[in-house]
Amino acid sequence: MNVSRGVQVVLLAALLLVVTGGAKPVVVGGTVTSAAEAPWAIALNNTQSVSSSGRYCGAVLVKADKIVTAAHCMDEAASTYYAVQGRADLADDSVGRVSAISKVWVHPGYNTKDHRYDVAVLTLAQPFTGVPVLPLETRARADRAGVVPSVYGWGDTQGTGPDETLQKAAVPDLGDKTCLANQGYVTNGYAAATNVCAGYVEGGIDACQGDSGGPLVLNGRLLGVVSWGQGCAQPGKPGVYTEIAGAAKALLQQVR
Ligand code: ARG
Repeated sequence: MNVSRGVQVVLLAALLLVVTGGAKPVVVGGTVTSAAEAPWAIALNNTQSVSSSGRYCGAVLVKADKIVTAAHCMDEAASTYYAVQGRADLADDSVGRVSAISKVWVHPGYNTKDHRYDVAVLTLAQPFTGVPVLPLETRARADRAGVVPSVYGWGDTQGTGPDETLQKAAVPDLGDKTCLANQGYVTNGYAAATNVCAGYVEGGIDACQGDSGGPLVLNGRLLGVVSWGQGCAQPGKPGVYTEIAGAAKALLQQVR
């Protein structure tokens, strides 16, 4: 049989898609990142975690004593959480700083029905003094199709990278229309004013379980927080993020 090189490549790619279900490694499909590159990335660990490393959710340092995470991460007692900074590999507890949580504020608009305002602000008992913080993106127009923010987290890689190691992936902002065109996403509560729709229509790169609460970063500002999705990195199922600008007023009152 005389099949051209181009056709061979397409056939191989199609075969790989079938075998892997389209999923690549992260944060699914991301790359390993150092704590120095993302000093404001916080692992929000929990003593009840199924993982021995304590891995539970992500968060982001927005002030020396304040971290932002997802409201849906706050199901356990406040005393069971601890924030870890400067530890890219969660198994390596010889590095990084740790703080207990002294106060939990969950956005009053959050509810498990429509998942809106999936954001919380936690106060650190031992502030991470001297660590660079990420400012909040309070402008709604920052969320628009075509910009390319990055997501950070220690979450599942679905085999595309090392476990419980800080990963980063660029996830294009697809615009609200893309998520609103998916009936399942509308049913699940996707809203233009309070969510960011980001990822790849073809799948392969996305946030995943364990990344919730972690930062979506654009131009050095916190654009969003990992909230939900349908599976991870599936075609036609982009990641849904809490839009910081959609909750800016309440957040700024907590972070000052
Ligand atoms: N809810 C998940 C968590 O608790 C995060 C889901 C993000 N999913 C996605 N496909 N972007 O970790």
